This record gives sequence, structure tokens and C-alpha cells, in this order.
Amino acid sequence: MGRGGYGTVEFWDDYYIVDRPEPYDWFFSCIHLSPLVQEIVPDKSDEVLMVGCGNSPFSEELHALGYQRIVNIDNCALVIGQQRARAPHLCWEVADARCLPFADSRFGVVFDKGLLDNLYCYRDPEENCGQAIAEIWRALAPGGRLVVLSFHTEEEVVASLTAVSGALPAQPWAEVMALRLRNPRFPEVLVACYTLVVAIKAVETGPTGASEEAATVCVPPKERGVAEAAGGANEGDGGSCSTGEETAACPKRHGLLPRPEALSSLRSPEDGGVLCLSASEALEMQRRVEERIAANRASFAARQEAARTQQQRRQEPQQQPPRQSLAEQLAARRLSLRPVPPLPPPPLLEWGAIPEASEPEGYGP
Ligand SMILES: C[S@@+](CC[C@H](N)C(=O)[O-])C[C@H]1O[C@@H](n2cnc3c(N)ncnc32)[C@H](O)[C@@H]1O
Repeated sequence: MGRGGYGTVEFWDDYYIVDRPEPYDWFFSCIHLSPLVQEIVPDKSDEVLMVGCGNSPFSEELHALGYQRIVNIDNCALVIGQQRARAPHLCWEVADARCLPFADSRFGVVFDKGLLDNLYCYRDPEENCGQAIAEIWRALAPGGRLVVLSFHTEEEVVASLTAVSGALPAQPWAEVMALRLRNPRFPEVLVACYTLVVAIKAVETGPTGASEEAATVCVPPKERGVAEAAGGANEGDGGSCSTGEETAACPKRHGLLPRPEALSSLRSPEDGGVLCLSASEALEMQRRVEERIAANRASFAARQEAARTQQQRRQEPQQQPPRQSLAEQLAARRLSLRPVPPLPPPPLLEWGAIPEASEPEGYGP
């Protein structure tokens, strides 16, 4: 355990040197989430922001799945340095999620894996979560999606996303959905399920910035679990809706999650969490992603090497081709030198008397 509390940068400085110097994901690999990610973020050209990236390989895997524009931030400078060294082909920035250095509406997607969980451990969790959510909302494009992966319950995460915090208003999400995900690393990692919440920023906002329509919050109850998430959900069998409507009446109930036909590979284990890929599918996907990561790294290294060589060439003094002697130049033109006879000596000059110079007028004593 490092210095300071879990909610301090000092803690993370120590953590990334002592406890986990190697890449580590607090949840699970992007590979296990890939069918869901492709469903939530169908447009791979969307710019993605990963907040509180830590030393997880998730972004590199996401990049290997085809998402080319990923910006990663963490307020721990040390881990950002480690990530830059490990995956220099991605963008890593030191930044605080509560004060993002990005323009409004820049990102199509924001991923938060464990950042909110960490903010819950700050001295004033409500205020800090409120600031981070407000900043994330600001940086999201209209229609953009916030994807939260958390150790906490769906209700807790949804409450944070929709809370009014101090002077900050609740963010007007158009839609908020949640799903329980089964941990494929269970029981080696003693957490059976995680919470996934997706919040969509309204496309149309009113004059106050508030969504014209009330946000619809659909949280499938835990006990109902996977069977429905995987495709067997019956409309109207008891999801909770913040609008007070029954789930059956909620038009967005199946707007994004779960969408059975698109998520055909979701499994339905008995413990109530969704498993996106079977073990064999995950292995196959992992092989492909690892290949792609290796290829991405190699092509980036090659491009860097080419750029370095070009730069060096520009800096080196222009090397002149070796000079040919006159005889070589002539020989190249099939000409040859012929000896020149010595010149006759110059005629001797005769000395004559030098006339005396007359003094100019006005000079002399
Ligand atoms: C629980 S770890 C999760 C790491 C990674 N996302 C993962 O899934 O493995 C939380 C991370 O959030 C970072 N963090 C904490 N507070 C932050 C803040 N205010 N702004 C940016 N990053 C923060 C920490 O430095 C740490 O790397």
C-alpha cells in the first residue's frame, strides 16, 4: 500500500512503482467487452477519451479493434510516462478529470473504468464526482456516450451521473442504461460481477442546456439478469425506469442495451451477469488483437525510424561528392593533356633616367 489514501496522487505514484509496475486492468480486457463496445460505439472514427486510464492495456486493445483516435488521461504523471514508453503510438496526457483540458463537445465517447470508483474515495466524493461528470458531459459531443465500468451498484453509478452536486446542475442525459457484467477472471479475481452504465448526451438541448425530454433511466434489476440481457428479455417484466413508467412503456428500453440480435454471443450464466464472449471466442479474439497490437507497434517503430533518419539527413552537412582531378575529368571525356613547350624568357628591361618631379605650386618653405 502506498503513501496517502486511495484518493491521492501519492498513492498511485507508489502503486504504479511498487504494487503494479506491469500493465494491469482493474476490470477485464477490452477483448471480453468487444461485442458490447462495438455495439455502444459503432462508429470507429469517433474520438474516444479514456479518463483515469492507469496502466491498463485496455486502450491499446481498443486501438487494435480499430478505434484509431483515443486520448488517454490520468492525473498521475508517473503512470502516463510509463504508458507513453509502452505504447508510444497512442496519445497519453497528464490531466485531471475534474478539469479537462479539452474543448466542448470534442469526444464521441468517454470511457471511465474505475475513475468514479476512485473519486468515491476522495474526501468529498459528491463534489468531486459532480465536477468530473460535469466536465465529461461538457467534453462529450451531442449524442456522445459515457461508458462507466464500476465495482459499485448500478443504482450508485446512475445516482452519481444524475445527481445535482453543489452549484452544478444534474447533467441532462438523454438516456442512461445499465448492465451487470460477469467477470471472466472470476474466481482468480474475487469479484463476480461489475456494473456497466451507458449515458447518452442529448442531441437537442433547451436554452438552459437541459434536455427537452426527461432522461430515461433504465436499470435492469439484478435478479433478472442475463437471460434477458442476452436476448430473452420480455418487455414489461420489471425493469426500473426513473420516469416512473413501467419498463414496458419505456420506449428506449431496448434502445442500446441489451439488443439481443446484435449481442448474439452474450452468455447467460446463473449468477446474473452477462458474459460477452465464451472462453474459446475470447482466446481467438485475444490472438487476433495481440497480432494487431504487435503489427501496430512495429509499424509505428518503423515510421519513427524513417522520420529519425530523415531528420538526421536534414541535419548532417551536405556531403560533396569526391572531387575529380583535372586529369580524371579530361580522361572521362576522352581528352588528354599534351606537354606544353617552355615559354621563352621575357626580354630584359633597360633602365633609363627618371625625370625629376616638379614640385606643385604652393608647397615648400
Ligand atoms: C482504479 S484505477 C483504474 C485504472 C484503469 N482505468 C483500469 O481500468 O485499470 C483509477 C485511476 O484513476 C486515476 N485518477 C484518480 N483521480 C483522478 C483524477 N481526478 N483525474 C484523472 N485521473 C484520476 C488514478 O491515478 C488511477 O490511475
